[in-house]
Amino acid sequence: MAATEISTEGAEFIVVANRLPVDVERAPDGTLTWKEAPGGLVTALKPILSARNGAWVGWPGAPDVGGEPIEGEDMLLVPVELSAQEVEEHYEGFSNGSLWPLYHDVIVKPEYHREWWNTYVEVNRRFAEETAKVAAKGATVWVQDYQLQLVPKMLRMLRPDVKIGFFLHIPFPPVELFMQMPWRREIIEGILGADLVGFHLPGGAQNFLYLAKRLAGYPTSKGSIGVRSKFGVVTVGFRSVRVGAFPISIDSADLAATSKLPETRKRTRGLRKELGNPEKIMLGVDRLDYTKGIDVRLRAIGELYQEGRLDPERHVFVQLATPSRERVESYKAMRNDIERQVGRINGDFGRVGHPVIHYIHKPVPRTELVAFFGAADVMLVTPLRDGMNLVAKEYLACRTDSTGALVLSEFTGAAAELRQAYQCNPHDLEGVKNAIDEAVHQDPEDGKRRIRSMRRQVLQYDVDRWARSFLQTLSGRVDETPK
Ligand code: ADP
Ligand code: F6P
Repeated sequence: MAATEISTEGAEFIVVANRLPVDVERAPDGTLTWKEAPGGLVTALKPILSARNGAWVGWPGAPDVGGEPIEGEDMLLVPVELSAQEVEEHYEGFSNGSLWPLYHDVIVKPEYHREWWNTYVEVNRRFAEETAKVAAKGATVWVQDYQLQLVPKMLRMLRPDVKIGFFLHIPFPPVELFMQMPWRREIIEGILGADLVGFHLPGGAQNFLYLAKRLAGYPTSKGSIGVRSKFGVVTVGFRSVRVGAFPISIDSADLAATSKLPETRKRTRGLRKELGNPEKIMLGVDRLDYTKGIDVRLRAIGELYQEGRLDPERHVFVQLATPSRERVESYKAMRNDIERQVGRINGDFGRVGHPVIHYIHKPVPRTELVAFFGAADVMLVTPLRDGMNLVAKEYLACRTDSTGALVLSEFTGAAAELRQAYQCNPHDLEGVKNAIDEAVHQDPEDGKRRIRSMRRQVLQYDVDRWARSFLQTLSGRVDETPK
């Protein structure tokens, strides 16, 4: 790759992510309208993006959509165009058929195909080139997630003047699993193009540090890595790459404020009524993904009804499941399995006009979701593996009266911070059943103590704090960022 000419203008702060933060709509005449669609990351970075002439480089989410950068409200939106075949091989293939299962403890078997890898390299190169074009001299570039692990190295070759951060939003796997990857050294070298590499947990950071030495042969620091402190260091030639743990969070204050609005409270009451005003409502909110353990909680609930520890007349379960990666085979199989389980449990324990499980397979608008969190007496978060799990934190932010209960898998990043949850091992069905049973029948005062303590954590360590701690460390303004 030849070095790109360095522009004196351009963006001083750039986020590079697989998806643009926009909703694209195609009118019948083929014209496209783009609307900024704020998620947690955009909201946290908005002030920095608008103050620092910011840009967001990403895929618009549909094949063959590209064009010139567009001036958004707070940032320049830079679309990276992918053909249908590239979506199939980069996004559905290598990202979600190889990396996603490998990094999530091989819950399903990862597939490794050379064509997928070649397209992954090609698409990463395109992201790096688009970024190089829009970055001002000395800009800060923050690359996000597993779909773009080669971008840091590629961008450094094109633009040695820019400062590069990389954050992995999913778990970084144990060394023994990562060694399966046929292109393992290329991936480690790709990430090491960054100046700072961030993970949710110290364990992931430690795994990466070990592999930097073992696979790429670089000297690494010895001490153990802390949370937002005690960073590891990899020495790559004359450069030092810092490696750290920065657990992501949510815009907690905004969610808490939404949950207190009179219209939200009214909707919460409405939902309870529509569900037949049961004594206890249990809730699951997930992308329909095999990592989320939706099947685990269904099995546990089915057995609890069977054993009479849950009562179909008094206890209902609502599962909101957003469609996700629907063209990937393993996702199709899992959907069939879950829908069969829902049908069987309703068949066994429901009656006409009164199902025990309410299953909604579509995304729910944000305000409606907050109303659901308000209605849920028990939140079920049971992934087999999850980098963080924001849903657990969102639930807590919305419990402004400190009631409720959280059942939380030990195999989520969130479990490290939310110690007062009813934690369970999702592989131990009896353990999951006991955790649900305890949460449903908890002593209200004990429940309040637990929720209060977890809410404090979620309100204090919000997404803004996450972004600031990462970016301050990247800028080198502080050696050890404040805890
Ligand atoms: P992941 O990033 O793997 O999807 P997270 O729990 O970290 O998992 O984040 C999921 C995000 O998607 C949360 O902000 C959550 O509120 C949102 N979400 C999940 N399911 C739904 C749904 N059915 N409707 C609307 N939003 C959803
Ligand atoms: O958190 C992991 C992640 O893959 C993110 O990169 C992404 O924003 C989210 O899950 C949803 O996945 P997708 O972009 O494949 O719909």
